[in-house]
Amino acid sequence: MIYLTRRPRRNRKSSAIRDLVQETTLQVSDFIFPMFIQEGTNQKVEIKSMPGIYRFSLDTILEELKEVTDLGIRAIDLFPNYAEAKKDKYASESYKEDTFYLKAITAIKEKFPELVIMTDIAMDPYSSDGHDGLVENGEIVNDATIEILGKMALAQAKAGADILGPSDMMDGRIGYLRDVLDREGHTNISIMSYSAKYASAFYGPFRDALESAPKFGDKKTYQMNPANSREALLEAQLDFAEGADMLMVKPALSYLDIIRQLDENFDIPIAAYNVSGEYAMIKAAALNGWLDGDRAMMEVLMSIRRAGAKCILTYFAKEAAVILNR
Ligand code: PBG
Repeated sequence: MIYLTRRPRRNRKSSAIRDLVQETTLQVSDFIFPMFIQEGTNQKVEIKSMPGIYRFSLDTILEELKEVTDLGIRAIDLFPNYAEAKKDKYASESYKEDTFYLKAITAIKEKFPELVIMTDIAMDPYSSDGHDGLVENGEIVNDATIEILGKMALAQAKAGADILGPSDMMDGRIGYLRDVLDREGHTNISIMSYSAKYASAFYGPFRDALESAPKFGDKKTYQMNPANSREALLEAQLDFAEGADMLMVKPALSYLDIIRQLDENFDIPIAAYNVSGEYAMIKAAALNGWLDGDRAMMEVLMSIRRAGAKCILTYFAKEAAVILNR
């Protein structure tokens, strides 16, 4: 026997002791479940690159939400899929009062008044260019985009959204949206800013779900360079100063250091988006029998919490809830 003062293994000797010393926890109430909706009735279309995730029509999403809320999930993030014919340069469909997305928000809120509905502010689902902003001569123009986003934000607030999620990465949009909302009396609508949103390969499956891939070029003039972290602090400072209620980092897994930095530097809640590609990787490996999908999922979600995220947007929400509810 060797004499050791410190034997860290003592704190791991039984499941009960491991639980006693566990530093980070994960709860169903930490989850925001991103969901996809399309026009029509009786639709439930599986996304090829996201096994287990579907695009619903309003009638089927209402059924699905019964299951989702029964699992204890209390927040969703709703994304619309629009037919190509509805798209134009100015994303004008996004703020038409009778557009199906806005009507769906209202209908869901009516049926599930306690459910938190987060919505997305960006032009891509409605844009014939497939970009988050307005394209002029091949450029994504900042200030004209923000005016369109303002109309979109107001329309979503009126429809019944609880949290708006500007995912567009235009400069100055948080302050502009806050102002537009407040002027119209929507002082209680929250803004969760996509503060540090990186130009990432991990959004591929999401663009399949929305059929919203850019028609030309990429998103590198507005989304961040994956090589940068100081810039994330700048983005977060601006969003904080402009009035964001929560700051988000996206994607999550390759950016755990960014989550940690924001959590250490800002006294508002930090969220992380465990994006479509991160979901697809684990699903693909699990379906091949190459790793234990449930364990990988729980490990990944815990790591995002450990890094400092308070809440997690994740396509795993339902599956993780089943495990956490056991
Ligand atoms: C678009 C938007 C994207 C995601 C959320 N909002 C994709 C993009 O920026 O191209 C990605 C979500 C995911 O991959 O799960 N504004």
